[in-house]
Amino acid sequence: MKTRVFSGIRPSGKLHLGNYLGAIKNWIELQNSAHQSIFAVVDYHGITTPYDPKTFQQQIMDVVLDYLAAGIDPDKALLIRQSKVPQHTELAWLFNTITPVSWLDRLPTYKEQLEKSPKYNHMGLLDYPVLMAADILAEKSNLVPVGEDQMPHIDLANEIAKKFNSMFGQTFEPVKAKLTEGARIMSLQDASKKMSKTPQSGKVAAGQAGDESCIFLVDTPDTIRAKIKRAVTDSGKEIYYNDEEKPAISNLITIFHLLSGKEIKNIEAEYEGKSYVDFKNDLAEVVVEFLKPFQTKRKEFEDNPKMVLEILEKSEEEARELASKTLKEVKEKMGLL
Ligand code: AMP
Ligand code: TRP
Repeated sequence: MKTRVFSGIRPSGKLHLGNYLGAIKNWIELQNSAHQSIFAVVDYHGITTPYDPKTFQQQIMDVVLDYLAAGIDPDKALLIRQSKVPQHTELAWLFNTITPVSWLDRLPTYKEQLEKSPKYNHMGLLDYPVLMAADILAEKSNLVPVGEDQMPHIDLANEIAKKFNSMFGQTFEPVKAKLTEGARIMSLQDASKKMSKTPQSGKVAAGQAGDESCIFLVDTPDTIRAKIKRAVTDSGKEIYYNDEEKPAISNLITIFHLLSGKEIKNIEAEYEGKSYVDFKNDLAEVVVEFLKPFQTKRKEFEDNPKMVLEILEKSEEEARELASKTLKEVKEKMGLL
């Protein structure tokens, strides 16, 4: 069976190391082997949680630039803004008519989001996973690289597909998630929380100077050095990997390992008897060096907005064509054509 990949990220700020190691790195590998790959900036999902309309376009373009600089190749993959392919939202409406509310209001992602922003209890938030199912199924994608937190949404997409098939005839194939293995990057300030674009201290807004929990892909070398220097460590002086005993150091070792390609046991051997300070200094340089080519490439795209727009428009045109075919089939089966 041909592999058709789809994934998306909400434009809720510049991407960080967690996004790269947990998501995009995986995508870059997949685009080389898949029959078709589509990567989206899911702007319609982005407006289901608090956001600022004034900076939203910039946030969308920041993610596009991050994608391109990280290695999403427009010759191999389609790079789209979700709202420019309205067939996805149209399919979401059709799916709404067959999706029981009880499949949605029990989802952990919905409950968590409500806890975070109780005033944002609206239909869009509840319906978020239906739009995600439509993103995937409109393009007839069958492999979805995502983090573990998204598993309930993939299950739901399959439930919707199955229900559609049983009501209107075989239309959608099963969708599989591709989980990134072992790449859950934790906050530099609290190793029990995921590195995240949302603020953790309550004092500083996410993505703003002073948010020290997160290394953004665009952080300058000095910012990276400062953040790593101030990253929390565990009690005891030894540097070794143990998630439970030493969550903070283990997180830093994971970052070292993934960015340098060095095996964890070799890193442990190299820093045996050395201090946290030595280790952190070297880690900072590993991160700085790793991000250098990314940042150079990002700058090139940033200086050439016309080319970036052309890439987007060409991809969106193709995605619209693909999704229109699905929509036609769905509407025929539902008695709408
Ligand atoms: P988000 O930033 O929450 O919109 O997530 C976008 C993508 O990055 C999803 O596939 C997440 O699973 C992944 N991701 C976000 N934060 C992390 C993290 N700290 N470690 C690993 N993957 C992450
Ligand atoms: N819900 C996903 C997240 O928060 C983003 C997303 C929207 C997505 N549509 C998608 C991911 C389709 C994969 C496929 O990470």
